[in-house]
Amino acid sequence: MKAKAIVFDAYGTLFDVNSAAEKCKDKIGSKWEAFANHWRTTQLEYTWLRSLMNRHKNFWDVTEDSLDKSIRVFSIDKNMKNDLLNLYKILSPYPEVKEVLENLKKKSFKLAILSNGTPSLLSELIKNSDLNNLFDDLFSVEEVKVYKPDSRVYELPVKKYNVKADEVTFLSANTWDVSGGGNFGYNSIWVNRNKSEFDILDYQPKNEINNLKQLLDIV
Ligand code: LAC
Repeated sequence: MKAKAIVFDAYGTLFDVNSAAEKCKDKIGSKWEAFANHWRTTQLEYTWLRSLMNRHKNFWDVTEDSLDKSIRVFSIDKNMKNDLLNLYKILSPYPEVKEVLENLKKKSFKLAILSNGTPSLLSELIKNSDLNNLFDDLFSVEEVKVYKPDSRVYELPVKKYNVKADEVTFLSANTWDVSGGGNFGYNSIWVNRNKSEFDILDYQPKNEINNLKQLLDIV
């Protein structure tokens, strides 16, 4: 593998997006997971729709808008809104993340995050998870004001590191993001944590892993 940079998606790949609602499951009750999935799906739909409509709004505001809608759909107590939002700022990392990054850091790759998240959200997430010295860069869509899977987003690390697209190994748990990066030219790897089905979107990743630790056998 000719990887020069290893670039990670953040939400869903390094950090568990359902962990905010899960931490409130006693108050939300048995519908917490359906609610969390609705919140995430709506959040992503809003990013795609805003990019298509040319009406960018940052990821934090989109996260709040999608939470407002999901609270209404699931009849959740509105007083929980601030707790849920605050927990979204400190989402739990998946258990293997730190060890894998520390291992990769010893090799000669550039290590980065490329995410829809705003720069301050990303800094807070990695600080809270004690990952702050492990990345060379945190690339945010805020640099280009359009969301993934627009190719202007995937261009950011290629330009900064002056590498070819296929010298970037990109990891995402989001199938559409794997396809987006792969269609751009990245070597995309799918982190398939839940035995899901891949999309039919003109790209099939050469590698599929179910845990980031398996990345260490590939690179
Ligand atoms: C991100 C979303 C796609 O971090 O999870 O960019």
